[in-house]
Amino acid sequence: MANANNNRGLWKSRMGFILAASGSAVGLGNVWKFPYIAGQNGGGAFVLIYLICTAVVGLPIMLSEFTIGRKTSLNPVGAFQSLKPGTPWIGIGYMGVLAGFLILSFYAVVGGWTLAYVVKSLSHTIDHFTNPGEAGNFFGQFIGNTGEVLFYHAVFMGITIGIVIRGVHGGIEKACDILMPALVLMLVILMIRSLTLDGAMEGVEFYLSPDFSKITPQIVLVAMGQAFFSLSLGMGAMLTYGSYLPAKENLTSATLYVVLFDTGIALLMGMVIFPAVFAMGLEPTDGPGLVFSVLPVVFRDMPMGYAVSIIFFGLLTIAALTSAISLLEVVTAYFIDQKGWPRKKAVLVMGGVIFLIGIPSGMSFGLLADWKPLGMSFFDHVDNIASNYLLPIGGMLTAIFVAWIWGTKEAHKEIERHETVFHWAAYWEFVIRYIAPVAVAIVFLAKLIR
Ligand code: PHE
Repeated sequence: MANANNNRGLWKSRMGFILAASGSAVGLGNVWKFPYIAGQNGGGAFVLIYLICTAVVGLPIMLSEFTIGRKTSLNPVGAFQSLKPGTPWIGIGYMGVLAGFLILSFYAVVGGWTLAYVVKSLSHTIDHFTNPGEAGNFFGQFIGNTGEVLFYHAVFMGITIGIVIRGVHGGIEKACDILMPALVLMLVILMIRSLTLDGAMEGVEFYLSPDFSKITPQIVLVAMGQAFFSLSLGMGAMLTYGSYLPAKENLTSATLYVVLFDTGIALLMGMVIFPAVFAMGLEPTDGPGLVFSVLPVVFRDMPMGYAVSIIFFGLLTIAALTSAISLLEVVTAYFIDQKGWPRKKAVLVMGGVIFLIGIPSGMSFGLLADWKPLGMSFFDHVDNIASNYLLPIGGMLTAIFVAWIWGTKEAHKEIERHETVFHWAAYWEFVIRYIAPVAVAIVFLAKLIR
């Protein structure tokens, strides 16, 4: 049963909330996934569609999630139930909890890879590759080594569980405070390094000049899925974070900050990776190993590369943790609010189950490398189902719900509580009603009839 939430806890400060929500948004999605799928899907054209999706679909849906969350102070299932009791809209909440499950299951595997690279940086294991081919082979061997991968996967999941057990005040808010500025600084330094490599401009061109002939329904679907994934939207993560907000916060500016932060970091990361990819003669379509093949070589050839490597993979691991936390928090909040479980039990049981479901993803590049039902590995299937289907569908339904079922009038009241001036109200209202839901539907239709 939904409870009165007296002891759910609230964010301590406005900046704390913005940083925590940014911590959820900024993670492996920006640093690991964005460059490799941009590379696989045509570079500049993909980036352009991704930006359009962020502005016309991501931005309005993020504000909607924050608003529903703060209004109800509940997890996604409880929130939809309390706004329209006894209707099927509660299904959006269940889909979100399921998406959280699935995403965290493979996310923790990749989080384990980054953690392993911190250790390998410290032990001088990855600082001698002279070209991305060597670094890529090493990475391929590493992710094929099931025992080692599962070890780091377990450690990553264990840390996530440890933080979420402490709840929003203790764990989540603090972890984000230093991370964001440090990460931005690091990426700027790396971008400068990358842009000054010989042959870097070819990469800049691939990344920034769109070739429209490359656009297909599949690319648009993937770009849209990436916008949702990167902004942590469509599954109630932002809704859940909004549910810990005190009433006086300005949701509209928080939304703008988080979207700008997240998109800015993804774009920066592209400027780090693609110039280096082209300068080193690697193919941009290299796949999930892209950053792990390129960066060790970049670090090797730069001043203080040893320290840079440790700091970079360290920051990336923390960024991944602050996202993993938000994924586990959605699942946890559901079991706490709806099932009345104590936090500790919810976190331990669900964290454990998610770890188990992640094991075949962890093995997808090793023992299960040849198992490709319907042409994709287990890892890719889970990612594809969650990111390209569950998130956009969840987001589309959230938009329809806010625009037409709960109603923009009610949403406005919540957004404008405590005299908040909503500067982009007209834009929001228009896109949430007519553009966001329709755009997602069109992308799915185009993909179906292609
Ligand atoms: N946005 C996170 C990232 O980019 C991943 C994530 C997706 C987190 C969905 C929460 C919900 O790494």
